[in-house]
Amino acid sequence: MYDLDQLVAQATAEFSAATELARLEDAKAGYLGKDGSLTALLKGLGKLPAEERKIAGAAINAAKVQVETALAARRDALKNAQLEAQLAAEALDITLPGRGQSRGGIHPVMRTLDRIEQLFRSIGFEVADGPEIETDWHNFTALNTPENHPARSMHDTFYLLDETGKVREDVLLRTHTSPVQIRSMLAHVEKYKHLDTMPEIRVICPGRVYRVDSDATHSPMFHQVEGLWVGENVSFADLKGVVADFLRRFFESDDLKVRFRPSFFPFTEPSAEIDVAFMSGPMEGRWLEIAGCGMVHPNVLRFGGVAPEKYTGFAFGMGPDRLTMLRYGINDLRLFFDGDLRFLSQFQ
Ligand code: DAH
Repeated sequence: MYDLDQLVAQATAEFSAATELARLEDAKAGYLGKDGSLTALLKGLGKLPAEERKIAGAAINAAKVQVETALAARRDALKNAQLEAQLAAEALDITLPGRGQSRGGIHPVMRTLDRIEQLFRSIGFEVADGPEIETDWHNFTALNTPENHPARSMHDTFYLLDETGKVREDVLLRTHTSPVQIRSMLAHVEKYKHLDTMPEIRVICPGRVYRVDSDATHSPMFHQVEGLWVGENVSFADLKGVVADFLRRFFESDDLKVRFRPSFFPFTEPSAEIDVAFMSGPMEGRWLEIAGCGMVHPNVLRFGGVAPEKYTGFAFGMGPDRLTMLRYGINDLRLFFDGDLRFLSQFQ
């Protein structure tokens, strides 16, 4: 009879020689497949006489179990080896130092704007927003700025081109946040048109503005914060109180002087420039201009839909870039906009 022990030994050896799962399955077919040698032996049983068949059947089945066991063991071994190889290839060296996530931070000027908003909110101001591409009407005309005013000229203001490359005269990059005064008044008046007397307008607008200007203290894009308070009996004394109080809180110091210096703006009458001076520290005694202000011109109230016979108001426009320079002792405005992390990260 066929030497079953030898067959088992041969199968086991072939299985061991297979170093990949696919090869192992090929080897298996030689014994247990449709045309495999064990299968053939089992098929041949039927031709044997009954007594022999029983003994031979038991022996063949025992051999089959051994082959199957050897196969399963080899299969497990190969699978383990494959897993080990994969684990080794994808190994993480957890002893390597981490790469670190650099953290973003708030830009120093944005910190100032946040602070300004917070202080004005605390005395009942709302924060408004307006478009940076503004109409000539909102930016100049409605702010009582005459046709021939130098601020309207090409070399001071960024205009936009139409599709044919021609300069458009009706839209521009806003040169100040003051047009938001007009937008705020028009919206407010519309909102309360059903009332005889409208509630007071108390609004600030922080934002970006643009001018053709570039040196250590001027950049073509810079920030302003507009302020507007309109109501019955709003006076210049209110303006002085609000601004002086704001500056003391902003700089966290009573050790400063605030001065209102007469000036001119088309949209206010009377107008003033606001200067501050610190009474101690490295900037002691130096007056620095930080805002323009004044009582809103009656023409501007009218353009905003507000009756100048009934209401008065004050407005101001501050330079938060300047305030930031003062607060942190920075001497070049351009540092804010160069995007140099060595500079910016000092404020985090
Ligand atoms: N818009 C002015 C500027 O850009 C600043 C300014 C001055 C704003 C007086 C005002 C104001 O609201 O009353 O220079």
